[in-house]
Amino acid sequence: MRRKVTKAIFPVAGLGTRFLPATKAIPKEIMTLVDRPLIQYAIDEARAAGIREFIFVTSRGKSALEDYFDFAPELENSLREKGKTELLEALKATNMESGAIAYIRQHQALGLGHAVWCARRLIANEPFAVILPDDVIAADTPCLQQMVEAYEETGGSMVAAMEVPQEKTSSYGVLDVKDDMGALVSVKGMVEKPDADQAPSNLAVIGRYILAPKVLQNLSNIKRGAGGEIQLTDAIAQEIENGRDVFGYRFRGQRFDCGSKAGFLQATVAFGLSRPDLKDEFSEFLDGMSMLKQAAQ
Ligand code: G1P
Repeated sequence: MRRKVTKAIFPVAGLGTRFLPATKAIPKEIMTLVDRPLIQYAIDEARAAGIREFIFVTSRGKSALEDYFDFAPELENSLREKGKTELLEALKATNMESGAIAYIRQHQALGLGHAVWCARRLIANEPFAVILPDDVIAADTPCLQQMVEAYEETGGSMVAAMEVPQEKTSSYGVLDVKDDMGALVSVKGMVEKPDADQAPSNLAVIGRYILAPKVLQNLSNIKRGAGGEIQLTDAIAQEIENGRDVFGYRFRGQRFDCGSKAGFLQATVAFGLSRPDLKDEFSEFLDGMSMLKQAAQ
């Protein structure tokens, strides 16, 4: 029996400078898509995939995240007294069982690989997931759940993958494909943020990972890579060099890059339109906007 994946690391230490001034006072992970903060989407996806322990790698200025996942007895009592059961229900998703959530500080901004490494003592010798909350994925079956199901067959390490335009490869980790089996690809190399003309393919890593515990050991020895940072991609690539399996998984779903303003706006529109309570009014508004735009052309 393969060991179940029950722990996930959420690297949330980034400064969110792309969203200044908003992120001067709130962590970017608390920024809201419709009515839920980004981090809630990541947590819900993790829970659906069977994750029971949630490890946040944080930094200075991220205490709003701790408050968000705390119980709020006064608020809950007041909602209960007023009979607001729907809102109480919505709050439930923000509650964590005691001991299910841990916060580790990343004291220096040395990159994604370093952030993951900071959580090494909480992982022990078991496979674990990593979720980057900036990558929001709308899918019928949540992305990490799709990956956990595939991983039960493959073992090894697995990254979510998606084709991107060749000229965008320099924003991603990129896979060097050994064997393309459809949804699943086996990988013979990985490069972090290659120039378009150097990229081994246009199959990019998206922020969902299931990793063998050895990746944490690799991170202990890895040198700084692209951008002068300690890269998770390099530690996963090292698995291949050490003769262990790494797979890419082409998930079913739509990914939004909520680390960029355009991506965040697109996600807001898509999630707004998918909400039964909002979609009629919202799509009428959007139709009106596009008619105005056409008329102006
Ligand atoms: C990180 C990873 C990169 C991956 C990307 C997905 O980069 O380093 O390999 O393709 O997330 O969003 P970042 O966007 O944090 O620079």
